[in-house]
Amino acid sequence: MDAIEVIVAKRDGRELTRAQIDWVIDAYTKGEVADEQMSSLAMAILLNGMDRREIADWTQAMIRSGERMDWSSLDRPTADKHSTGGVGDKITLPLAPLVAACGAYVPQLSGRGLGHTGGTLDKLESIPGWRASLSNDEMLAVLRGAGAVVCAAGSGLAPADKKLYALRDVTGTVEAIPLIASSIMSKKIAEGTGSLVLDVKVGSGAFMKTTERARELAETMVALGTDAGVRTVALLTAMDTPLGLAVGNAVEVQESVEVLAGGGPADVVELTVRLAREMLEAAGISGKDPADALADGSAMDAWRRMITAQGGDPSAPLPTAAESSVVTAPATGVLSRLDAYAVGLAAWRLGAGRARQGDPVSFGAGITLHAKPGDAVKEGQPLLTLHADDPGRFGRALEALEGGYAVGEAVADRLPLPLVID
Ligand code: URA
Repeated sequence: MDAIEVIVAKRDGRELTRAQIDWVIDAYTKGEVADEQMSSLAMAILLNGMDRREIADWTQAMIRSGERMDWSSLDRPTADKHSTGGVGDKITLPLAPLVAACGAYVPQLSGRGLGHTGGTLDKLESIPGWRASLSNDEMLAVLRGAGAVVCAAGSGLAPADKKLYALRDVTGTVEAIPLIASSIMSKKIAEGTGSLVLDVKVGSGAFMKTTERARELAETMVALGTDAGVRTVALLTAMDTPLGLAVGNAVEVQESVEVLAGGGPADVVELTVRLAREMLEAAGISGKDPADALADGSAMDAWRRMITAQGGDPSAPLPTAAESSVVTAPATGVLSRLDAYAVGLAAWRLGAGRARQGDPVSFGAGITLHAKPGDAVKEGQPLLTLHADDPGRFGRALEALEGGYAVGEAVADRLPLPLVID
């Protein structure tokens, strides 16, 4: 077999055989298929698609490229959540300790920011001392002690995806549903969770801009998980406007702590509790209401254990940016639109995300929202506060926000979400 045969088959719209898929993933992982060949194949997949059998074979081949984790020594069910990425999406931070407080183990491998979307690990690293990289033994010890662990995937887990993901990021091939579904699910299945809730984001700030595409992605991932023996459920949730009132790193940790303390913005609390209920149900745990675990402090206790177990100081002050700039309401009325993509792009340009792989992020950079769509605003009142270490960043962030918000008479129609796919 050779790479050109596989590329030409997909270029010409043919189904790839299981043998072709196994060979190309294995050869690419070993460096025997070149990046330019894999990039050409990824583009052919983006343009011509894959059927369910091909996606399942591709996912299994990526799982086999590395190790599979095993939590069978634990005495309680495991449950995980994966979000396809959004703006202000800090939900993992309150959710993992909340579900742990309700009786499941939460072994969560998370990622870093991608483009305009934030990354859970970048947010958590703003807590002084907190470490994202753990060995498998350390991961198990944190899980046993705290009930939840959120960390980076080790280099042994789905290495084919690691290479392919970095390649897709720079070759315009991120948005292919077969590649996104297999990328996410190969890592989640290899991670060894017994149940999985997928939060598939829909809207301007998400990778899936329409409900139809999000539903196709959700159905594909649910089928992959179910076939692999992982109880998998997907929720389609709105990402047309940022979640909560904070977008960035440390500002999102702060907001998550407010939720764990029983406060926080209503949309963040609502989604956190909803996802927690889905996770507990998928894990077969009943009799504990997540809303109670937020109210009685047990979720906060689990958070403090989880952060401390990974070297972090949950009581330490969080980093703040040196400079700020306020955007005010252009008129009196109702905030009718605050676009997730515009806010995400602005936060990225303020330094909350990275321009190139491996760049550091600014922990204090980001945006604080003072109003959400539907809120009454007065001309001249603060709408957004931008935070950056370098005031030279404000200009490009303000450009990103141009046309991204509007004041009118009523809020524009929101998407009729969430939708559950199982
Ligand atoms: N997240 C992933 O892990 N993979 C993708 O392809 C897209 C989002």
